[in-house]
Amino acid sequence: MTLQKNKIKMALAKGRVANKTIDRLKEIGYVFPDYSKESRKLIFTDTTNTLEFFLVKSPDVGTYVEKGAADIGIVGRDVLLEHPADVYELLNLKIGQCRMCVAGFKDTQIQYNRKLTVGTKYPHIAKNYFTQIDQPVDLITINGSVELGPILGLCDCIVDIVESGSTLKENGLVVLRSILDISSRLIVNHVSLKTKRAQIDPIVEKFKELAF
Ligand code: PRP
Repeated sequence: MTLQKNKIKMALAKGRVANKTIDRLKEIGYVFPDYSKESRKLIFTDTTNTLEFFLVKSPDVGTYVEKGAADIGIVGRDVLLEHPADVYELLNLKIGQCRMCVAGFKDTQIQYNRKLTVGTKYPHIAKNYFTQIDQPVDLITINGSVELGPILGLCDCIVDIVESGSTLKENGLVVLRSILDISSRLIVNHVSLKTKRAQIDPIVEKFKELAF
């Protein structure tokens, strides 16, 4: 399968936001009949033949768009902050809304005049936050199931995404501080925005319906 030149190519972060995004795209007229959560296919074309999306790991969305392999991309603000890319951030799509938080056991003291060990998938965001509040930290990068960190004594607390709060609750942890509001963003390649404006503008206008 090859990507068609006349369609707008969109990189989409795999995972739970992808499923939500594809559902929301249906509401604004972009239907991808071949897509299913179970499919191993990576590239999908919509029924109007104007938009083609492919699924990539979330930190790679910015890379595909920055390099022009994708014209546009949809990715969380958390990912863009952690893995900055030279792209235009055009819209807050308000999909996948959640918070970046410091979490741990409820009696964990932040800013306690001692160095904290912090487990996270987001070392840059965590470092920036603790620098701002003058809290010395040792950061440990963990790639998933971050909530295990405090439970197993790997770290004092974590910096992670909280959406429903179920993962924290079911593991006996609580939010200690809220750091940032997160949601999905529409990003665009600098060159595509100039050279494919006629194709991109109507798509952006449609996507605006999702943002309100
Ligand atoms: C994310 C995040 C939390 C969880 C929060 O993990 O890292 O663990 O979701 O969601 P909740 O507040 O709705 O429970 P993800 O599901 O991406 O899996 P991972 O732990 O493998 O990264």
